[in-house]
Amino acid sequence: MYTHLQRDAGRPPVTLSTLAQMKAERQKIACLTCYDASFAVLLDRADVDVALVGDSLGMAVQGHATTVPVTMDHMAYHCAAVARGLHRPFLIADLPFMSYPSKDLALEHSVRLMQEGGAKMVKLESGGKQTEIVEFLSGHEIAVCAHLGLKPQSVHKTGGFRVQGRERETAARLLEEARQLEAAGADIVLLECIPAALGKLISAELQVPVIGIGAGPDTDGQILVLYDILDITTGRKPRFVRNFMAGAPGNLEALQRYVQAVKQGEYPGPEHCF
Ligand code: KIV
Repeated sequence: MYTHLQRDAGRPPVTLSTLAQMKAERQKIACLTCYDASFAVLLDRADVDVALVGDSLGMAVQGHATTVPVTMDHMAYHCAAVARGLHRPFLIADLPFMSYPSKDLALEHSVRLMQEGGAKMVKLESGGKQTEIVEFLSGHEIAVCAHLGLKPQSVHKTGGFRVQGRERETAARLLEEARQLEAAGADIVLLECIPAALGKLISAELQVPVIGIGAGPDTDGQILVLYDILDITTGRKPRFVRNFMAGAPGNLEALQRYVQAVKQGEYPGPEHCF
């Protein structure tokens, strides 16, 4: 029954237990977004631990100004394509804007991302009311990643893509929300665009792995948008982005450099932090 997991015994697929063990052993977790099968094969070859089919595909692939226009059909389509190219990395898919306004819709859409898209875990922008949704999904044995800090699906409400948690009260609220999400059953917490000191504090407080993007060097792992590190994205890039194509002979080597930089703690540097 478990033979498919032993297909390549030398390179077993990453599971939640692998990620928990990596946190316990202080091995950094290297994660990247991915939107199609061809790049998924390269992520796999580069030994990326976690691939995220992010709703950032709305900006990176579809050319929108925000992630808001991304639908469940888009997510299921891209997730299935990525799943076909992966063997070892753990596959997470984003629940897009307004696909989890209620527990039942969150469950229905998570099931779709898993059954149609091949995702092993769903990610939702969390905190506040979404904590109950995380608890509900987790209660149905669905692996959940809770996304805190800058929440791109809320930019029209919050007024833009801004660093979160700079003030004492907002930092305390984020820490409390992270604790509540872990208690509700979140298996991974992802922190976007927060001060490095807060990223360090939350990662030390939580038992589950904490992945950061613009959250400093002390989270348990790092994630970046694939097109940013390959310098495909045009226009102004966020402060935390590093171009790994610079000096690399090809895409695979750039991805390998990213994985190595994360594992060795060379990325992010002080210039990438808030
Ligand atoms: O959608 C996405 O790519 C994300 C990352 C920025 C973490 O959520």
